[in-house]
Amino acid sequence: MATEIVSFVLINKTKIPSVGLGTWQSEPGLVGQAVSAAVKVGYRHIDCAQVYGNEKEIGLALKKLFEDGVVKREDLWITSKLWCNNHAPEDVTLALNSTLSDLQLEYIDLYLIHWPARLKAGTSGFKPENLIPTDIPATWKAMEALYDCGKARTIGVSNFSSKKLGDLLDYARVPPAVNQVECHPSWQQTKLREFCKSKGVHISGYSPLGSPGTKWLKSNVLEHPILTSVADKLGKTPAQVALRWGLQMGHSVLPKSTNEARIKENFAVFDWSIPDDLFVELSKIEQARLVRGDFLVNDTTSEYKSVEELWDGEI
Ligand code: A2P
Repeated sequence: MATEIVSFVLINKTKIPSVGLGTWQSEPGLVGQAVSAAVKVGYRHIDCAQVYGNEKEIGLALKKLFEDGVVKREDLWITSKLWCNNHAPEDVTLALNSTLSDLQLEYIDLYLIHWPARLKAGTSGFKPENLIPTDIPATWKAMEALYDCGKARTIGVSNFSSKKLGDLLDYARVPPAVNQVECHPSWQQTKLREFCKSKGVHISGYSPLGSPGTKWLKSNVLEHPILTSVADKLGKTPAQVALRWGLQMGHSVLPKSTNEARIKENFAVFDWSIPDDLFVELSKIEQARLVRGDFLVNDTTSEYKSVEELWDGEI
């Protein structure tokens, strides 16, 4: 019997829908339609970020969905993320206000620190001269204030290693409920997963299909012979198996698509499951991180002199 796994309960007792529509690299002109199609198919979770540059169009689509009575605000889970140039405590509220204004929302369900990396206020782009050291304790305090006032109903982080998450958990008054990280069958996050489980932090998996459309990542996650053979045996697509694998591992998944057929395909993962013998096969896939974060690493201005330092050895 397949378990549906439609949501996961977070440490603050809220429920995060297990499949969210990713919007990174969703082109302007297409993202609004994608959000609208997804909600009509049944998605109740949209993953956004200020830096994706498309929150205004998403806001327009949401407004229309609410006006047309397709869905109610309280039935949706909307995530957004604090960009690296807004880490200064005084900028954190302003950044969320700007996101809320673009999304035309009164509150966000989940607000995340996008990266454990900081850019000078007012700059964009990871040029060495723009990078400055983080002060995560100060930024987190400002995130906690957003939680206290209800503008962010849940707060968390993204791209944090076990070490960075552990440091934050040591001093956080409001613990991060979610760590959103790259996660798919070719990067299963074994160490981080165990750590998060022990601390009650939920993992949300970005690039759950290995971002096949991102040329610089040179991804072939969906073509891996073990994944394709499991998919063939189950009569499912490799994308569906990758997503269902994530749900059965216990994390939410955020597949991006602006194509209606693939949006539907990616949501058809609830009424079947991967049996144990095939699930074990997927654990044999060789592992490699795709999003290494080299753009955050340099010898002079960055607090990370190597990719190993950025991920505290989890590479
Ligand atoms: P498209 O938007 O044209 O559907 P990820 O979520 O891992 O970042 O992957 C997103 C990429 O995967 C996009 O290029 C998207 O293209 C593509 N994609 C989305 N769904 C599927 C699917 N079911 N099968 C193959 N490719 C997909």
